[in-house]
Amino acid sequence: SNIILLGPPGAGKGTQARYLVESRNMVQLSTGDMLRDAQASGSEMGKRVAEVIARGELVTDRIVIGLIREKIEEGAEGGFIFDGFPRTLAQADALAELLRETGQKLDAVIEMQVDDSALVARITGRSTCGDCGEVYHDETKPWPADGKCANCDGTTQKRRPDDNEESLRTRLMEYYKKTSPLIGYYYAKGSLQRLDGLASIEEVRKNLGWIMGD
Ligand code: AP5
Ligand code: ZN
Repeated sequence: SNIILLGPPGAGKGTQARYLVESRNMVQLSTGDMLRDAQASGSEMGKRVAEVIARGELVTDRIVIGLIREKIEEGAEGGFIFDGFPRTLAQADALAELLRETGQKLDAVIEMQVDDSALVARITGRSTCGDCGEVYHDETKPWPADGKCANCDGTTQKRRPDDNEESLRTRLMEYYKKTSPLIGYYYAKGSLQRLDGLASIEEVRKNLGWIMGD
């Protein structure tokens, strides 16, 4: 099935997407990861978006849709998890059109609900493994004391430049202004499901599985 994980920065989209990739052979399409990869590649586009991301603003629809188009055209046997996309009504329309053109459909849009107050702590405590992408949190899931990633034994712990309080404020503003209208958009289409994102990682994982028919 093809699903969208919708929610503010720090809602747990990336954390849960990784579980779905492991357990269901789904393909995670994270536009945030794709943009960060473009940045790392040193391309012109990458350089241009780096600053926008660091400030916490949204990258243009044209760039983001360009990145996602090819992937959707390739298709995915186990289905796609759209993580951090779409983020604007224009992106949602483009996604609908791309899926229609390629004979695929959207099965569910899952809104992960988390209070703003919890997001600051989640974002400022986050780190990831530079080798495998495993997501950690200084308090709830600390980087192992032996310095090695619990998933792959890698030794590079990374933090994102936009994971500071000031950029987070902008990211939240962007979310409420441009992304939250998608809640109504998908509600009207009958595809919206809501999930309590404040529950523990394990609990959210279970509830998500339940929504997906476990
Ligand atoms: P993106 O990479 O998509 O970032 P985001 O939406 O801000 O989401 P995050 O990755 O911050 O949060 P998450 O929900 O994945 O949380 P996570 O699981 O890591 O986008 C970055 C930037 O790229 C944007 O600002 C924009 O500039 C640009 N961009 C990307 N897509 C775009 C688009 N479509 N259009 C335009 N621009 C775009 O969890 C967070 C932390 O909480 C972790 O430490 C984790 O361990 C912890 N945690 C997770 N779940 C729980 C739980 N249940 N309980 C306790 N702790 C938890
Ligand atoms: Zn790792």
